[in-house]
Amino acid sequence: MTIDILTVFPEMFESVLNTSIMGRAREKGLICVETTDIRPYSVSKHKNTDDYPFGGGAGMLMTPQPIADAIKDVCKKRNVPCVDNISEKQNTVCNDGCKRILRIYLSPKGVPFTQRVAEELAKEEHLLLLCGHYEGVDQRVLDKYIDMEISLGDYVLTGGELGAMVIADCVSRLIPGVLGSSESAEDESFSVAGLLEYPQYTRPREFEGMEVPQVLLNGDHAKINQWRRQQAILTTLDRRPEMLEKAELTKKEKIWLDGILSEREDMQ
Ligand SMILES: C[S@@+](CC[C@H](N)C(=O)[O-])C[C@H]1O[C@@H](n2cnc3c(N)ncnc32)[C@H](O)[C@@H]1O
Repeated sequence: MTIDILTVFPEMFESVLNTSIMGRAREKGLICVETTDIRPYSVSKHKNTDDYPFGGGAGMLMTPQPIADAIKDVCKKRNVPCVDNISEKQNTVCNDGCKRILRIYLSPKGVPFTQRVAEELAKEEHLLLLCGHYEGVDQRVLDKYIDMEISLGDYVLTGGELGAMVIADCVSRLIPGVLGSSESAEDESFSVAGLLEYPQYTRPREFEGMEVPQVLLNGDHAKINQWRRQQAILTTLDRRPEMLEKAELTKKEKIWLDGILSEREDMQ
């Protein structure tokens, strides 16, 4: 998996890309994440990347030329097609050994980023993440060079950089080999089962008067798994009840959950 990040602030990425799991995965060559500074592509005398919006209004907009040239250059370097019209966008996988690139603009107007979206992105060979800044980006460069827009949530950030870091981090840990054990991503919140994760404990067994649940100490893995599933269901019920509608529960678990719900009703 290759992730190219286009930004006017590449220095923001240094520690994130070089630390912890992402740093190790890059060192091992499991993922290639690189930043490209948009500013040097500007043909303006002072290497400007922003200008006043037509029609007036607050703030500045990123100009299309440096972004378009940066995207074209990254595509050329990576030997991937730089598709530049909507009809061609439908078919970005080409025949003669050239690879597909999915170009994403970080935007509050985009598709909300979720674990499902991350899983879809992790199937791609190559992502390009364009970070906006100021009041955003000239629409024409988005229309021509961007395949999809992704939002981190219903709020406005100063720039797309934090969003690009979130996407790069979240997608990277789904690439086989990046996490220590292939199970680590499967059992987590929002994973296949559609539940939030169960509570976890480590040493010491007793901390400030609080004991680790006994079931985790007896080495009975069937019981431990059952307890964890039940705790995951209860956590989801309490914090994100709407997720339970789509969660994959066994018949036995559904009966157990119905029991819990009627017990709670009785108590009210
Ligand atoms: C100040 S914001 C621009 C917001 C824009 N004027 C609007 O109202 O939709 C500057 C940049 O931050 C990034 N950004 C801001 N909020 C975001 C969000 N929720 N998700 C993803 N990117 C975001 C985008 O790249 C955007 O171009």
